[in-house]
Amino acid sequence: MCGIIACSGVKCAAKVLYRGLEDLEYRGYDSAGISVLEGDSIVTVKRKGRVGELKKGIEGMCGTAGIGHTRWATHGKPSDSNAHPHACGKFSIVHNGIIENYAELKAELMKEGAVFFSATDSEVIVHLLCKYYRGDLKEAVLCTIERLKGSFALCILCSDYKGFVAVRYRNPLIVGMGGGAVYAASDMPALAGLAENVAVLKEGTVAFAVDGEISFCDFAGRPISLTFSPVPASARSRSLCGFPHYMIKEINEIPAAVKNTAAAFEETDCAAKLFRLAKKSAFTQIMLCGCGTAYHSALSAAYMAEELLLLPVRAETAGEFRYRKTSVNRSTLFIAVSQSGETADTVEAARAAKSAGAYVIAVTNVPYSAITAVADMVVPVCAGTEICVAATKSYCGQIAALALTAAALKGPAEYRRAAAAVKSAEAICAKVIAGCFSEDAARACASSAAVYFIGRGADYPVALEGSLKLREVSYIPGEGYPAGELKHGTIALIDGGTLTVAVITEKKIGEKTASAVEQICSRGGGVGVICADGCAPAGLKERAEFFIEVPACHKFISPLVSVIPLQLLAYRTAVILGRDPDKPRNLAKSVTVE
Ligand code: AGP
Repeated sequence: MCGIIACSGVKCAAKVLYRGLEDLEYRGYDSAGISVLEGDSIVTVKRKGRVGELKKGIEGMCGTAGIGHTRWATHGKPSDSNAHPHACGKFSIVHNGIIENYAELKAELMKEGAVFFSATDSEVIVHLLCKYYRGDLKEAVLCTIERLKGSFALCILCSDYKGFVAVRYRNPLIVGMGGGAVYAASDMPALAGLAENVAVLKEGTVAFAVDGEISFCDFAGRPISLTFSPVPASARSRSLCGFPHYMIKEINEIPAAVKNTAAAFEETDCAAKLFRLAKKSAFTQIMLCGCGTAYHSALSAAYMAEELLLLPVRAETAGEFRYRKTSVNRSTLFIAVSQSGETADTVEAARAAKSAGAYVIAVTNVPYSAITAVADMVVPVCAGTEICVAATKSYCGQIAALALTAAALKGPAEYRRAAAAVKSAEAICAKVIAGCFSEDAARACASSAAVYFIGRGADYPVALEGSLKLREVSYIPGEGYPAGELKHGTIALIDGGTLTVAVITEKKIGEKTASAVEQICSRGGGVGVICADGCAPAGLKERAEFFIEVPACHKFISPLVSVIPLQLLAYRTAVILGRDPDKPRNLAKSVTVE
């Protein structure tokens, strides 16, 4: 999973590509590279490390067309030779995706004399292009595609062609035009400063971009047309606005994310559509899927929806769901949750559910993403572009969208209650962000050997999310646990060097979580508490190393409020430890491979 970009008809391709790669870097930052067409030859610069490593190498590069890549390593470790572009003969390519049959293709090509310089799966593509090129670029591209199994978004340079070729199959690719130039990139924000009009390539499309023009065909070579529209305003906001990191900027954008999501739900008439759907379809079960943070919001929604609808509602990680025989069928409502809308496991899980007959709803922050093409209905999350690899505002937007969805399925009265609760969340979140944080809490985390998070009921998915956030940005080991399960195993890990953070937003259930806290304290473990106002069992505050109070609020919005101190805790801990919270090691924002 990587970021790719291409341009043709610009003044200095290397400069344009470099800037675009900076915007795409959140998709992978193990290595980066650029190829530019200079006269009749292709010049390539590629380096291990971040995009910034290319700066010196591209100085003096001229040429009006080129391709660029920023990599998240799958096949082959991060290195100069495994970095893209991969060049051979008259071709250079950049690839996002996975070539599943690369080993057999590589063996075949090597037998025919091809020499490989990398351990990547992608390099077979450039050798196939060389093999099939007899002066007809379109023919070579189509013959190459026919041999590939897996998923691929490609940009191709050929020294006989003054532009570039772009191909999309199961990985995102967007093309743009403006000022006589043509562009392609893995996402919209990378094109925002360049193109005036954009179009999302359909599955199975090849684009030929040259001389300020672009034409399209399908994989059988038949011409197709695409409609271009202006770059959406939401894709344009990339500035840090004075914040030191995107993570804290995006946490501060939570109130707007929740507000805009509720407004979009209203504007797109989701409530009426969902209520009609529930009445007409008489679903017998609801299944929610997602990965990472999106799975945690799906799990929160499962707790909410089951209580409301009194139907079996389950949440599962998409990677598990797609390889299991399940009871999903025509009477199932399947809800796929994904910030990016391009997480391979989630998109494929939605596809699997659809082919099993389920009605599929996509809850996503990216309206033009792959998952929207699979879904029968889209419930929008309007968190705005999320750049930090760690999801924060999108999680809160997802909880708002899912709470409204669950309530709308129940009926208009429940929806009105949920809409009022979500409306109140904007001010509550702003208050929590402004006031509910203690630096002592972050210091306690930063000095712990491991940090565990516990909660019961609706607080359990929040504990999972708090733990994921801290692990991914601070690298401190730990896990999220149902408070009642702790004593069945994980308590063996508790000692004076560990910290456990308990989440309590309901008084009755909080008493049970408080017993787990007692058990931890008895073993010498440190404890911190995130507690809704008025829900603290007697004596809990005194036991805790830190105690952060959040306003008590409706169960529809509780998970999106109580998560905020945990997001801030993860952020501050990462900063104290000198980590880069926006680009944690080994991670990338969108996981478009299995
Ligand atoms: C969140 O902080 C993570 N970076 C990650 O778990 C993420 O939520 C997951 O990869 C799913 O992404 P998606 O929502 O774009 O599908």
